[in-house]
Amino acid sequence: MSGYVADPGERQHPLGELTSLCTGDGSLSLHSSCFDEAFHSSAGALAEAKAKFVAPAQITRFRSGTPLRVLDVCVGLGYNSAALMAELPLQGAPDLQWWGLELDPRPLTLALQHHGFSTLWPAHVLERLQALRDHGHWTDASGGGGGGGGGGGRMLWGDARTQLKQLPKGWAVDLILMDAFSPGRCPELWSEEFLAALAAQLAPGGRLLTYSRAAAVRASLRRAGLELRSLLPAPGQRQEWSSGTLAERHAASSPLANHGPGWQPLSLMEEEHLSTRAAIAYRDPTGQETALMIHQRRQAEQQACPWESTSSWQRRWAPFTRPQAGT
Ligand SMILES: C[S@@+](CC[C@H](N)C(=O)[O-])C[C@H]1O[C@@H](n2cnc3c(N)ncnc32)[C@H](O)[C@@H]1O
Repeated sequence: MSGYVADPGERQHPLGELTSLCTGDGSLSLHSSCFDEAFHSSAGALAEAKAKFVAPAQITRFRSGTPLRVLDVCVGLGYNSAALMAELPLQGAPDLQWWGLELDPRPLTLALQHHGFSTLWPAHVLERLQALRDHGHWTDASGGGGGGGGGGGRMLWGDARTQLKQLPKGWAVDLILMDAFSPGRCPELWSEEFLAALAAQLAPGGRLLTYSRAAAVRASLRRAGLELRSLLPAPGQRQEWSSGTLAERHAASSPLANHGPGWQPLSLMEEEHLSTRAAIAYRDPTGQETALMIHQRRQAEQQACPWESTSSWQRRWAPFTRPQAGT
């Protein structure tokens, strides 16, 4: 870690102190003292955005003159959306209708103060990030303004659990980029209830993409009616058994392929993971519970549950559940 970010009032922020980090591909990330977790994989913040969010989104499916409706859950420094926008062609792109959910404005502000971060993006993408920081929205020249036809974007600052309800009624989403801190640190954004609410926003054929391969998350997404695929480790990444999850709402007109750019079906090992105690959901029935309350409820449910223990599943599937040496 390096580059402590000074801010006299930061102890009162929900993320606590933010410390800058340089990840493996040279891109900036942050560490939050309150969540005690980094924002990105140490292998590379930019590489992670491209491999886990942009590639499996397959944005070439969206044609000029049609909407591309994106919901970024936990915008942070903005990598996932910026990388997605940078992939869209300047001419003939779909109309991007974008909404972002984020608790703390500091990560985006800090990122935009960082020269290396700003030089990653084409001018029009940088302008949108700056507009989100300064005004909380941008509108493309063609009109619109985030959900109302044409292109544009809008931030909803605050707790994603409450702010999700502010999305326009009937606004169906093509892509949800779900990038909360890990379920262990931030179970409130991986609860059965919150994931079901996200799934309910998806249009037929709409996709939720996340770095999480947690059994509880996958089981909740499946119960919410979504089809699951496992994200493959990107070239150059540690060859783990999965690097995340693609979850899609079924569309009869264009069924989801078993294999695609960066994904494959869940293996037998991954399916069996969903029948272990690790698959017990995080529950937050009021939408206001603390991480501690959610963990305590889940632990009680796990203790009373007759399902296979996760350690027994790990032993049965060793060495597949361990990172492979030398990669
Ligand atoms: C892993 S980081 C996201 C990284 C981000 N996608 C990026 O590309 O930089 C998690 C983010 O979740 C935000 N967060 C934590 N709890 C939240 C909540 N209850 N509602 C909304 N955002 C939250 C944090 O402020 C942090 O920016």
